[in-house]
Amino acid sequence: MEPEHYREIVGRFASGVAIVTCEGPDGPAGLTTNAVTSLSLDPLLLLVCFDNTSRTLSAVRASGRFAVNVLREGQEDLAAVFASKRIAQEKFESVTHTVAHGVPVLDDALAWLACDLRELLPGGDHTIGIGAVTHGAMHADGRPLVWFGGAFRGLERP
Ligand SMILES: Cc1cc2nc3c(=O)[nH]c(=O)nc-3n(C[C@H](O)[C@H](O)[C@H](O)COP(=O)(O)O)c2cc1C
Repeated sequence: MEPEHYREIVGRFASGVAIVTCEGPDGPAGLTTNAVTSLSLDPLLLLVCFDNTSRTLSAVRASGRFAVNVLREGQEDLAAVFASKRIAQEKFESVTHTVAHGVPVLDDALAWLACDLRELLPGGDHTIGIGAVTHGAMHADGRPLVWFGGAFRGLERP
């Protein structure tokens, strides 16, 4: 199968959008992700798939901790900034954050989870990061940003 055809088909699998952050050796780092999955309840584990060229992956490898910041509807501009190759410092000029439990937590995220990096496993041109969840919080209200068919959407299709 051609990669483009695969991308089109797998793009029918709707997901949320999250910014994965960490306190890297040069300060906070982060990237936009949708390859985030809850992995295990006992113990509490989640996984994130990092492109091998991601600079945030290097920072996560160095720091040993990361956060998953779940984005809300209307935060597509922020998602675009963290999906860019701007330097990390510039990315963080677009959003205020606090460092909690050793990870950058973005203000106004719909929810966040902080993890200890448990394992990095090879997965083709990506690396699977498995995190042991240590802390988290959520807002009771608010709607998620959705990634579907190669575009940002809300829960209701326009
Ligand atoms: C909706 C969306 C989802 C993405 N999901 C991922 C992902 O799961 N893993 C990944 O490594 N990159 C993903 N990307 C691409 C990264 O955000 C992008 O390569 C970014 O520039 C990496 O930044 P960094 O090099 O500073 O880490 C996604 C981009 C978008 C727009």
